[in-house]
Amino acid sequence: MSVEATAPGKMILFGEHSVVYRGPAIVLAIDRRASVIASKRDDKRVYVDAEDLGFSGYFEENIYYPITGKAWRGRNLSALNVASKKVMEHLNVDGGVNLKVRSMIPIAVGLGSSAAVCVATTAAVGELYEGKLTKEEIAELSFEGEKIIHGTPSGVDNNVSTYGGIMKYERNQPFNRFKIENQLPFVIGNTRRKRSTKNLVDEVRLLHERNSDLVDNIIDTIGLISTQGLESLFKNDHYMIGELMNINHGLLSALGVSTPELDQLVHSARREGAYGAKLTGAGGGGCMIAISSEENLSSIERGIRRYRGQSIRVNNTNEGVITRRINNGDN
Ligand code: MEV
Repeated sequence: MSVEATAPGKMILFGEHSVVYRGPAIVLAIDRRASVIASKRDDKRVYVDAEDLGFSGYFEENIYYPITGKAWRGRNLSALNVASKKVMEHLNVDGGVNLKVRSMIPIAVGLGSSAAVCVATTAAVGELYEGKLTKEEIAELSFEGEKIIHGTPSGVDNNVSTYGGIMKYERNQPFNRFKIENQLPFVIGNTRRKRSTKNLVDEVRLLHERNSDLVDNIIDTIGLISTQGLESLFKNDHYMIGELMNINHGLLSALGVSTPELDQLVHSARREGAYGAKLTGAGGGGCMIAISSEENLSSIERGIRRYRGQSIRVNNTNEGVITRRINNGDN
């Protein structure tokens, strides 16, 4: 018997960077998912097959042994080792697992792929050992894996991936979760340029130190955009969401985190009829997002590809982590 769990990626609609200081960020689960199929092993190894990403190997006594791909790739996989071990510890199980990882979420570009894989691993291993984990437990245990990759993450990625829907996230405040029934048509444009969130957060911190009054005003305005943006989501006002995205992008540029590639994709999307477009996540590369009417989606996608971006159509989703048992032994 094996178990498959799938979990969604995410995008930040409003409030990245300002949320590091104060004010909310609005984060949506997206209908691009990661899948993990877990099965039991007779030994205590955690075996990870991530062949789509070009590597596989196993952990024994927390040491990584590559089978295909480079040894340093094990750093990413160690999050899955830790998440699996935490679940087994939590359930008083002294065992091992095979994990087959597949993902439709591009990696390291701010779309929450590592959190989705950690959440799916946690849920799959929990179900495999009949742990009946609650969503709260899945979010908590998967966070232990996330910390391996990101150091001190906010916890927003694994929360939104576990529960789905919309999250209003504010530092030192409980997460506020919402569901909306409307599907919002988005296009993501991936510059394919990987970036370090930590470096970008550090650069904004230095800008803030040099120009504290100015940067404080930008931070407060972005916080206001997030608050108004959430209201626009509830009203299903796509036009206003787009307008607020445009203003948010301008302020992120003022903070120095946009790039010529991101700006090209943002302006191309607007030219092709988007209501609005902005970078999403830390900036410095990674992705931008555009919202538009259904009829303009194809031309926006073409506009993104024209500037060598990868275009990905997504909708928001209320569907968080889902688990199913596979009884035919065929995985
Ligand atoms: C990165 O996805 C979002 C930032 O706001 C950093 C953070 O909130 O930890 C740039």
